[in-house]
Amino acid sequence: EMLEKGGYDHFMLKEIYEQPRSIRDCLRGRIYPEQGVVQLGGIKEYVEKIKNVDRIIIVACGTSWHAGLVGEYLIEEYARVPVEVEYASEFRYRNPIITSKDLVIAISQSGETADTMAAIELAKEKGATIFGICNVVGASIPRITHAGVYTHAGPEIGVASTKAFTAQVSVLTLMAFYIAQQRGTITQSKFVEYLTELDEIPQLVEKALLCNEEVIKIAERFKDSANCLFLGRGSSFPVALEGALKLKEISYIHAEGYPAAEMKHGPIALIDADMPVVFIATKNSQYEKVISNIQEVKARGGHVIAIVSEGDTDVKAMADYTIEIPLTGETFVPLLATIPLQLLSYHIAVMRGCNVDQPRNLAKSVTVE
Ligand code: G6P
Repeated sequence: EMLEKGGYDHFMLKEIYEQPRSIRDCLRGRIYPEQGVVQLGGIKEYVEKIKNVDRIIIVACGTSWHAGLVGEYLIEEYARVPVEVEYASEFRYRNPIITSKDLVIAISQSGETADTMAAIELAKEKGATIFGICNVVGASIPRITHAGVYTHAGPEIGVASTKAFTAQVSVLTLMAFYIAQQRGTITQSKFVEYLTELDEIPQLVEKALLCNEEVIKIAERFKDSANCLFLGRGSSFPVALEGALKLKEISYIHAEGYPAAEMKHGPIALIDADMPVVFIATKNSQYEKVISNIQEVKARGGHVIAIVSEGDTDVKAMADYTIEIPLTGETFVPLLATIPLQLLSYHIAVMRGCNVDQPRNLAKSVTVE
C-alpha cells in the first residue's frame, strides 16, 4: 500500500500533489493557445445543440456539485447561456421543468452516484440532451449520457475528492470556452489570451503547492477549533463551500462556506476569538469588497486566514495569517485557491488523528439513495 501511495502518508496527500499532472492530462490535446482554439471531441457531434441552447442545467452531488457552481460562473460569463445548478437528489423529486431544448450537464467523479443517474434518466425522458463530466472511464453515467468529456484525473482513492474536483473545474472551463467558441461570444484575441493563461495553470498549481509549510503552521494553530467559516465572492464562493466541505469531511470540525457578503445576514453572529474565518481574498474585481468583509471579522475579534495573490500587501496588513497563491486571471482562481484549502484540511485532520483517506460514515461512491 505504501508503494501505491507513492511515498506519501495518505492517498489524499498523494492526490493533492498529483494535481499539476492531472490538470495537464485533462487539458492535453484539448487546447491550442496559439490558435485560440478549444477542441472537445466528446461533444463535437452536438455543436448545433450548443449553438441553439437556451438554458443549461447542471446536476451533481457533493464536491461535484461545487464544481458545477464554478461552472455556472464560467459558462454564464463566457458563453452567455443561463445556467442552473441543481442537487441531483432535489432535482429528481420535484417535477422539474425540462424540455427537449435544454442541455443537462451531469458531473460525477465515480460515474455511479444513484441520485445523479436518476436525474439523468428523468431529464432524458423529458427529451433533454445530456452531457456527462466523469472521471471513471466506462462507468454507468458515461454510458447513459448522450455525449461527454472525461476528466482524466486518474483513479482517486481518498474518499474526500481533491484532484477530481480540480479536473472537473478544468473541464467546465474548457466547456465554457468551447460553448463560447461555438456561439461567438468571445473574440479570437481574448481566446488566445485565456487559453495561454489556462495552459500555464498546471505550473502555477505546482507553485501553489509550495504553501505547504505555511499551511502546516496554520493547521497547528487552528487544529482544536470547533467551528470554521469559509468566505469568498464570485467564483470563489464555491471554492469556500468546497473548503468547508473538505474540512468537515475529514477533520469533523463543523465548517460552513458562505458568500462573503451574506456573512452579515447570519454567520457574523458567530464570530468571536474562537472562530477562524478563512477568506479567499485574491486580487480580482471584488477585492475591495472582500477587504471590507475582512475588516468586519477583525472588528469582532475573529481570526482571519486569507488566501491572497502573490505580492499582496493590503490583506496581509490585516489578516492574522495569509497564504499566497500565484497570480492568474480571475477565471482560473478557483483552480489555485482550492489547493491551500485541501492542504489545510488534510493537515488539520492528520493532527487530530483522523482517518483522512476513509473518514467515518462516508463512502467514495454513493450508489444507493
Ligand atoms: C460522495 C463522495 C464525494 C463526492 C460525492 C459525489 O459523497 O464522498 O467525494 O463528491 O459522493 O460523487 P460523484 O462520484 O458523483 O462525483
